[in-house]
Amino acid sequence: MNHALVATPLSSRGTAWHWLLPFAAALVYPWTLAQFHLAYSDGHDMTAGAALALLGAYAVPALGLWLAWRLGAQKGTGIAPANLRAARLAQLVIATPPLYTLLGVLLYLMKINDHDGAVWAGLWCTAAVGAALLTLVSADSEALARPASNARRHAVLRSVHGISALLLLAVFLGPHLFNHLAGIGGLDLHRSIMKTLRLLYRNGVLQPLIIAMFFFQIISGLVLYRRKSALTHDLLDVLQTGAGLYLSVFIAGHINSVFTLGRYFGTDTDYAWAVGVPTSLLADAWNIRLLPHYSLAVFFLVAHVMGAARLIAKKHGMTATLANRLAWWGVAAGLLLSCLITAGMLGARLSGRF
Ligand code: HEM
Repeated sequence: MNHALVATPLSSRGTAWHWLLPFAAALVYPWTLAQFHLAYSDGHDMTAGAALALLGAYAVPALGLWLAWRLGAQKGTGIAPANLRAARLAQLVIATPPLYTLLGVLLYLMKINDHDGAVWAGLWCTAAVGAALLTLVSADSEALARPASNARRHAVLRSVHGISALLLLAVFLGPHLFNHLAGIGGLDLHRSIMKTLRLLYRNGVLQPLIIAMFFFQIISGLVLYRRKSALTHDLLDVLQTGAGLYLSVFIAGHINSVFTLGRYFGTDTDYAWAVGVPTSLLADAWNIRLLPHYSLAVFFLVAHVMGAARLIAKKHGMTATLANRLAWWGVAAGLLLSCLITAGMLGARLSGRF
């Protein structure tokens, strides 16, 4: 059985369609959230219409992932050059939820209200025109597909990215996700764990280091992405690079929200703030965007690390079949963790009381 899931290559003849689909999906994203709000706000019930609209919102990044995988299918050593730009665009669509949240926060800070959808459509159309013009004037898309970097230096950068990742996971990300998981035990349990953890990560020396390491993950990750996205072909590879792109936008947006919205305006950025108390994530027209934004961040963080662990395991001699199988189990665990954390954010409690 093919555990890595290598796609059948898409013909590069229909490339125009491959361009249009990710754009269309990104444009539709705010509409799916607005439809959810309309259906849900009626009686605060998860009606079939509300559930369908929410599924539609999650389908946008899923479509980006599927397209990136299909477009990235390769014969030989690299992605078909004609498909590469479209594949990268599709990967950007995976990051639609944090992109739309970041836009909402920036517009809020600029005091521009209720125009998120219009600005979103304008920005994507501008990007579409830019990408189309780039394709028109590019004499040779081959160069785009050729991974130009020095393989040895690339390997060193990958290792440093990995070591920094391990430190971040140990010092901040692991405890932070555990803290969010504890949300399912109630606001008080979450707060008491958070207060203890804050002694560590809000420490005057550690805090700037953690922020610096996050920015390093983004910058080094994007450099690694440039090469890897031209080489990827199986679903776990695409999941790993797409997840990396998602995390780039999510981390930058999350740091901006916590420091600008929270610290600058003096709000305590605690669990109640994150889950939109008292309105909740589901019942508020703005907050609903935070549902895919947060839940997929947890899933993609685990998927990214699992994709990376698979490559490291193979390099150290594990058979491809076993490494792929373990990585898929890890991805499934990431999905479960995301579901539990999200359930807590939506008000589910172990005690059964909501
Ligand atoms: C907290 C965030 C992150 C964590 C915990 C993390 C973790 C890791 C780990 C452990 C590796 C394997 C390194 C190795 O092979 O030794 C890796 C590889 C990679 N990461 Fe990240 N990463 C993060 C953020 C990012 C971001 C923001 C991007 C941006 C696109 C990114 C892109 C990549 C890419 C492309 C690779 C694969 C490099 C290759 O195989 O050539 N990562 N990551």
